[in-house]
Amino acid sequence: MSSRSCLSIILAAGEGTRMKSALPKVLHKIAGLPMVAHVARSAEAAGAGDLALVIGHGAEEMRKASAKFAPRAESFVQEQRLGTAHAVLAARTAIARGYDDVLVMFGDTPLIEAKALTAAREKLAQGAGVVVLGFRTPNPTGYGRLIETGGKLVAIREEKDCSEDERRVTFCNSGLMAIDGRYALRLLEAVGNDNAKGEYYLTDIVAIAAAQGLDVFATEASFENALGINNRAELAEGEAIWQKRRRREAMLAGVTLVAPDTVFFAYDTEVAPDAYIEPNVFFGPGVKVDGGAVIHAFSHIEGAHVGSRVEIGPFARLRPGTDIDERAKVGNFCEVKNAKVEQGAKISHLAYIGDARVGAEANIGAGTITCNYDGFNKSYTDIGRKAFIGSNSSLVAPVTIGDGGHVAAGSVITEDVPSDALAFGRARQKILPERGRMLRERLASAKKAAE
Ligand code: UD1
Ligand code: CA
Repeated sequence: MSSRSCLSIILAAGEGTRMKSALPKVLHKIAGLPMVAHVARSAEAAGAGDLALVIGHGAEEMRKASAKFAPRAESFVQEQRLGTAHAVLAARTAIARGYDDVLVMFGDTPLIEAKALTAAREKLAQGAGVVVLGFRTPNPTGYGRLIETGGKLVAIREEKDCSEDERRVTFCNSGLMAIDGRYALRLLEAVGNDNAKGEYYLTDIVAIAAAQGLDVFATEASFENALGINNRAELAEGEAIWQKRRRREAMLAGVTLVAPDTVFFAYDTEVAPDAYIEPNVFFGPGVKVDGGAVIHAFSHIEGAHVGSRVEIGPFARLRPGTDIDERAKVGNFCEVKNAKVEQGAKISHLAYIGDARVGAEANIGAGTITCNYDGFNKSYTDIGRKAFIGSNSSLVAPVTIGDGGHVAAGSVITEDVPSDALAFGRARQKILPERGRMLRERLASAKKAAE
């Protein structure tokens, strides 16, 4: 089948008014990735060849976004929204190039799985003219109904055009259609707009193809594959389904999730077998976790690499550009950003490490802050191997602490500390004998006099 050429067309011109958003509907995200990009990824995973995006509402934003998530996609603007068949024809020049398979998908149906696309294409390879992905639901309101006669699909009827009998049909159109490329333009051009909405319905090509003697089939997939997102409640529902799928996949691949329902992955999170993840952990985009790493509860991790046997949290935040080497530790209430933490280093409590290197086996005391920003520029802090930073120290960047350098607690370090040196950057302690008692007595008598 992979020898068959394919054009995947994703319809995304709709306004999505029910999202009540300035952002085009299909750019709203699930697991950190726009919905339409999920569809593009599934198409790609199914080997779905060239990609055409039909855009309209928010065309500029759509172009900008698609340059990132699908750089090879061609965009076609549908100037007026006259229906799904009209939308597909916006990509006429692409279809006219001639493909074996033409797949049509909706940008607001982000949970479509590659295997559903592959199954539909297989039917085409076996000789079908049109294949529709259907799903069953006890609550079919709003969906096009698949009308079958003798095991063959003869029509799709939109809700508004259904007879009472047809309205009771629970086998519905997901929106995914696979069309034999030889007939695609001919079928699309035969679609009219004589229906309740006055739109050119893509779904009409089923009856047209059947009347022309082509074989038309429905394949069946789960309801999730067809879940169309129209408002933010449905967006949350889509997110929940996506997360559920991903958690299961992670666990079956050997990752321990103590409380799976409380762990949130991004679309691209990579977690190796034998990672151990406690409850309430959130992964933003760009995270890779190696085997044997332990992520304690309530940690937030984004754009970071967590090496093998590293311990993170509880309550830790790793921000983009963080790279933690094996056996290192970032403990509670620590934030690390754009920093390399080398093997076995420890940042155990209440610290901010940004734009820095922490050398192997170094120890960063509680309350240590790298002062990396002066209001205008970011500067770098380099902490050497086996260095020791005493609690509550401020390292004012740019600054270097040499290997084995020792910073006394409470220091403000503004100058480089050579290797193995001891640095104090604080006022010396003074002892005034008896003065504590004298102060206390003076304050007490002053208060009494005032009463
Ligand atoms: C469509 C199907 C219906 C199916 C349902 C599944 C048609 C006629 N109906 O109905 O059978 O059960 O999806 O969710 O196809 N779009 C454009 N340009 C247009 C019109 C639509 O790009 O002119 C895009 C929309 O942005 C959306 C998709 O096509 O991504 C589907 O359009 P929508 O209006 O939501 O179709 P439904 O009425 O939901
Ligand atoms: Ca819809």
